[in-house]
Amino acid sequence: MALSLYVHIPYCIQRCHYCDFTTFEQSLIMPPEDYVKLLLMEMRQRHHGVAGRKLRSIYFGGGTPSLIKPSLIVSILKEVATLGFEIDQSTEVTIEINPATVSESSLDTYIQNGINRFSVGAQTFNDDLLKMCGREHTAAQTRETLSLLQKRGLNYTFDLLFALPGQKLAQLEQDLNELVDFQPKHLSAYYLTVPTGHPMSKGRPPENEQVSMFELIESHLGLSGFERYEISNFCQPGFESRHNMSYWDNTDFWGLGLSAHSYLKSSKWGTRFWNPKTFPAYEEQVSNAATGSPEEGLPDEQVEVLKMHESLTDICHMHLRTLSGLPERLLNELFDGLAASEAASRLNSLVTKGWLVKSSQNNWSLSPEGLLLSNQVFEELTFGPSDF
Ligand SMILES: C[S@@+](CC[C@H](N)C(=O)[O-])C[C@H]1O[C@@H](n2cnc3c(N)ncnc32)[C@H](O)[C@@H]1O
Ligand code: SF4
Repeated sequence: MALSLYVHIPYCIQRCHYCDFTTFEQSLIMPPEDYVKLLLMEMRQRHHGVAGRKLRSIYFGGGTPSLIKPSLIVSILKEVATLGFEIDQSTEVTIEINPATVSESSLDTYIQNGINRFSVGAQTFNDDLLKMCGREHTAAQTRETLSLLQKRGLNYTFDLLFALPGQKLAQLEQDLNELVDFQPKHLSAYYLTVPTGHPMSKGRPPENEQVSMFELIESHLGLSGFERYEISNFCQPGFESRHNMSYWDNTDFWGLGLSAHSYLKSSKWGTRFWNPKTFPAYEEQVSNAATGSPEEGLPDEQVEVLKMHESLTDICHMHLRTLSGLPERLLNELFDGLAASEAASRLNSLVTKGWLVKSSQNNWSLSPEGLLLSNQVFEELTFGPSDF
């Protein structure tokens, strides 16, 4: 059974104003060398029961993995191989890189050691907006990084952030024009999400302009040969992110490092588990762990053994994020008659409402209206223990 690995590298040059990922400014915390030692220890202790499995993908995420020495990333990849995970040509190995944090020589090291996909946190080519987000790099540095990747013909993806305070439709259009010229194979377009009351929640484009932004992204990218295959993700044909697909199509994934989350089908309805969010707690856990499977021996508050209604909720939410949707066949295969028919009835009523469509192959997926209202769709498909 295939497995995906996520490796969290929690270092950043700066903390962007909108970000709530578990990351820290490098100088303020444990040196990366010590952190990677803990990470290797965690892998050696906990790989029992999963080592030997074929890896669909490895993803170095953050944070800014390109900020730490490439030799540290290589040491993690070597350990993965030493522990007996199966890696072949089809294993997608991605590293997130921030503009101005890679060089010809670091790229050489990554490529020679099996990294075959680069995810560039570009966000926007507008310097004023970059500054307002608290980003350290300029648009010129983003262009340099993208040119470096393009010159070598590498497979790279691009993160775009939109609906920023003060952002105009024409500025988003400039971003789209420019990024299409760099010919990435894949693009993630993230609608800025910040809590109410956050400084960046003020001055955002009005709702009708936000809708125009969603429409502009879809039409502009469509004309440039990109297919939308998930709510926020677009790709050239055949370049879907294998790693992200693991989250959406219910493949097992093991997350290593600070705050990393995992999902394994190691119990009837699947088990989720996660690592501590602080360095001292993570260090203590790894230093005191016995050997075992990834979730063995974790405290109860870090493990959730899913019940049927939770698994049904996850399957509906995750599959419906993709434009290929949720196959009726899968519902019937995984769940008993009562649960599958309750889900089918809710799904069909969302078709009547116009938020979902059902294909001739009996897959439900988000309609154009549902794509804009996905949170409401997911609320309707959240099941409780007494729903069937
Ligand atoms: C985990 S971050 C890591 C990427 C890299 N460190 C960077 O920022 O350049 C992945 C992506 O999440 C997106 N992101 C982070 N915070 C967000 C937020 N509050 N709302 C929407 N997207 C966000 C950004 O586009 C970012 O590139
Ligand atoms: S660089 Fe990326 S991970 Fe780091 S703070 Fe900014 S958005 Fe978050």
